[in-house]
Amino acid sequence: MPASKEEKLRWLEAEAEDCKLCRLNEGRGNVVFGVGPANAKIMLLAEAPGRMEDKTGVPFAGAAGKFLNKLLLEAGLKREETYITNVVMSRPPNNRKPLPDEIGFCRPFLKGKISIIKPELVVSLGATASEELLGRRVVLGSEHGTLQDCEYAGVKFKLFVSYHPAAALYGGQTRLKLQEDFKKLGKLAEKI
Ligand code: URA
Repeated sequence: MPASKEEKLRWLEAEAEDCKLCRLNEGRGNVVFGVGPANAKIMLLAEAPGRMEDKTGVPFAGAAGKFLNKLLLEAGLKREETYITNVVMSRPPNNRKPLPDEIGFCRPFLKGKISIIKPELVVSLGATASEELLGRRVVLGSEHGTLQDCEYAGVKFKLFVSYHPAAALYGGQTRLKLQEDFKKLGKLAEKI
């Protein structure tokens, strides 16, 4: 019998847990592989684990996660029906941006997740996730809230570009833009 999507994800996760290819393994608490159903139609992709995620092994477990939960609720989406992951799976020191080589070492894992899950819609939260999937520079100010055709790891899906929830934690324009984007996302998700 061919392996199920769940099994394939578990194998990939076991490999990720042993990974020592880049410096990020040195200080990490947990590898944050990703959570959600293996057959999720919607995937949320962000940048890298933070302190709470490193501690718990769960993506979006801290303050940004609380805000993400609120955004999903307002959009009428159930967090547990989405697959949530990050471009890199180990926390960069002091939450700095992941470096290109760190992203490169995690890339086969992200490709693996996308080729196993085959999401119909991916929501990229922030520039790091958007640029990884599109393979080009992304200016969020002009591309947030847009739906684009994307192909990554040989899988074709719709990509919805938005800001990172952490960028909106302290109020201001980004918070309002994220809330508007997620309202739009809720309507788009009704169609899939
Ligand atoms: N920020 C991210 O980019 N990912 C998480 O999982 C949490 C915070």
